Amino acid sequence: MPTLVTNGGARNFIESGQKIYRKTLQPKSLAKSAGNAFPAEFTQKSAGKAKNSSNGVKGKKLTTLSLEITISDFIQSVIKTKPAENDSPFSVLDLRVVIDLMNKWAIKLPTVEPFYAVKCNSNISLVGVLASLGSNFDCASRAEIESVLSLGVSPDRIIYANPCKSELHIEYAASVGVNLTTFDSVGEVEKIKKWHPKCELLLRIKTDEGSGARASLSVKYGALHNEVLELLKAADVAGLKVTGVSFHIGSGGADAKAYHGSILLDKEVFETATRLGMPKMKILDIGGGFTSGSNFDEAALNVNDAIKTHFENDEDLVVIGEPGRYFSETAFTLATKIIGKRLFPHASHLGLVQNLIMLHAKILKLTLQQFLDPLDAIDTVLKEYMLPELEVNDWLVFPNMGAYTTSSGTNFNGFCSTAKDIYLACSSSVGQE
Ligand SMILES: Cc1ncc(COP(=O)(O)O)c(C=O)c1O
Repeated sequence: MPTLVTNGGARNFIESGQKIYRKTLQPKSLAKSAGNAFPAEFTQKSAGKAKNSSNGVKGKKLTTLSLEITISDFIQSVIKTKPAENDSPFSVLDLRVVIDLMNKWAIKLPTVEPFYAVKCNSNISLVGVLASLGSNFDCASRAEIESVLSLGVSPDRIIYANPCKSELHIEYAASVGVNLTTFDSVGEVEKIKKWHPKCELLLRIKTDEGSGARASLSVKYGALHNEVLELLKAADVAGLKVTGVSFHIGSGGADAKAYHGSILLDKEVFETATRLGMPKMKILDIGGGFTSGSNFDEAALNVNDAIKTHFENDEDLVVIGEPGRYFSETAFTLATKIIGKRLFPHASHLGLVQNLIMLHAKILKLTLQQFLDPLDAIDTVLKEYMLPELEVNDWLVFPNMGAYTTSSGTNFNGFCSTAKDIYLACSSSVGQE
């Protein structure tokens, strides 16, 4: 929910421009480097004092936040220095949130290597910091692969996790050495055989998705139980190596127990491959679906328990995940300026804010609707939410705006959602305000 920042009285703040860190890329396996082995700069409270020469944040100014100088103070200071006529929304990326989430991942899911799903938020600073923290990457297209490679990440840290790929993009993946992808149809097997026969495959299966997910993905992707045999055989006949299985329980708020059932389904596919005399599978890809907060703890418990139950004696097993929302959602805070106000009879007023965002898979021109009114429209993002009287030129601040926001934006009505300014900050701890 938004908080209101009025248009005056911003406190003085210290914008240190301190450097973030200097770090060569981590080795491929985060599992090997988990625990205390994160770059020292990130595990120290003084993360903000390290150097910002890492790719993605190179040369960018970083503002160190503290208990005294909070993200709200920083946002107010940005607003104060903006020319009055500048209506553009902006975001703040708090690197500390990303660092803490990565540490939490390593502690709670020590055997699962994260492949950050770039589609969720492809901001280059976020991707660069994740690369430096040892994350690998899930890319869905040529553009995403190019963007990750441009940071100096080696191609063996990328999975092309899109079961429906264009031939040109497959050819590109082959040319740069991205050698792991997903499939769920015979047609895809044929394309991969033609354009990238050395590529190893993960069979994407349909799972019983947890209830409550904001975006259900098994509707569109994943092989049904009765298709598995045919698909494994098709890959085998094509001379392609199927090294594992992948699934996605649905994005945002899915029931964590769904990981348990899905990992059991994976085990059955592993056994089917063995029965067919195919090479032993070794990669278990548990997809995304994670959110930060207590939901993550529950998800981790389910994942760890299911791996222990179904794969305990499999020493060669490599478990990977494709978290998107987990890393990006809470790291970004959005500030938007109220550019117009209109009163409606029987319904109080609307504040119109210039920004394009995506909520619950809808592309929206953000319109704040303070009280329920008869003009329900697709661009209404909040109903029956009590706010103080809003005035033109006030700013509203929305936390947790990093997942599927700008990456799903459009230029609708000429408002460009990707051109937004993004400021880098590093707070001293998560949720300090
Ligand atoms: C194949 C794949 N992996 C990972 C993700 C990221 O999911 P989440 O943001 O829920 O972690 C998605 C989201 O659509 C996806 O399609």
